[in-house]
Amino acid sequence: MNEYREIEVSALHPKIGGKLDGIDLQENISDEVREKIHEQWMRFMVLVFPNQAISDEQHIAFGRKFGELEVHPSVAHRSSRNKEIYRVSNVDEAGEIIPQETASWQYLNLTWLWHTDSSFRQIPSLGSILHGIETTRSGGNTLFANLCESYEALSDSQKSEIQDLWVIHDHDYILSLSPELSKIPEKGDYTPMPQVRHPLVRIHPVTQRKSIFISPHTMVGIEGMSEKDGRGLLDELIEHATQEKFVYKHQWQNDDIVMWDNRCTMHCVEPYDNTTTRRIMHRVTIVGEEKPIPG
Ligand code: OGA
Ligand code: MN
Repeated sequence: MNEYREIEVSALHPKIGGKLDGIDLQENISDEVREKIHEQWMRFMVLVFPNQAISDEQHIAFGRKFGELEVHPSVAHRSSRNKEIYRVSNVDEAGEIIPQETASWQYLNLTWLWHTDSSFRQIPSLGSILHGIETTRSGGNTLFANLCESYEALSDSQKSEIQDLWVIHDHDYILSLSPELSKIPEKGDYTPMPQVRHPLVRIHPVTQRKSIFISPHTMVGIEGMSEKDGRGLLDELIEHATQEKFVYKHQWQNDDIVMWDNRCTMHCVEPYDNTTTRRIMHRVTIVGEEKPIPG
């Protein structure tokens, strides 16, 4: 059908992020369109689809075109109607702003730190698709870092220093980062997850590009290194990877859909005044197909 030829592609940043116009995600997209989207996704790592007023069910159907969907361990953040919908929102389902001191807000507040989704799993997420339902005008933008570019920009000696290192990731580390959250006994009602190890350098299964695999909110340390040395090296890599030249900042409009590849990017939310500003985002998370491939 010729409507598929109308897909317009534009870059949003020199290193990461592309915008796709001319696709209606309320429709059940064909395999051909799915392939086109996938091709652009692999090229840009982060895709933006403006003006997509989709329902949660349409969101789920679109996500399923790219794989099976995760059910997030935090029960408190799942939509009561669809367990695949993870609510990244400071507004509860009754429409009230969630108080700052609750475990539920403290948990979400951790998205303000750089991370990749589900890095606490043996098989971390492949990608995530976020629907901006009620978006912010001041703060609340989302930043995405290209971790292939930051790997490639390392010197040869830095590359060999990190080659073959393994990082310990722990879901509970997220909770320990929040002074309030670590004090709350039930920690927001989530399913406990065991620690996992992931390579610090990984290879993307589709593009074959190497990237640094870091997710600051689950990284406990580096295997075989003292806590201080491991932390020191990870902090240096985080600083390197989050330089502006590797980062696209997405300024949300309502009904933007943003889709990112968790295998080669990380992201964080820019702070906003969550006591007065409402922000409602719904996410589906695509299950990873394999453990990260060591690079
Ligand atoms: C996420 C997340 C980004 C945002 O959904 O994985 O980190 O902009 N949130 O809310
Ligand atoms: Mn996230």
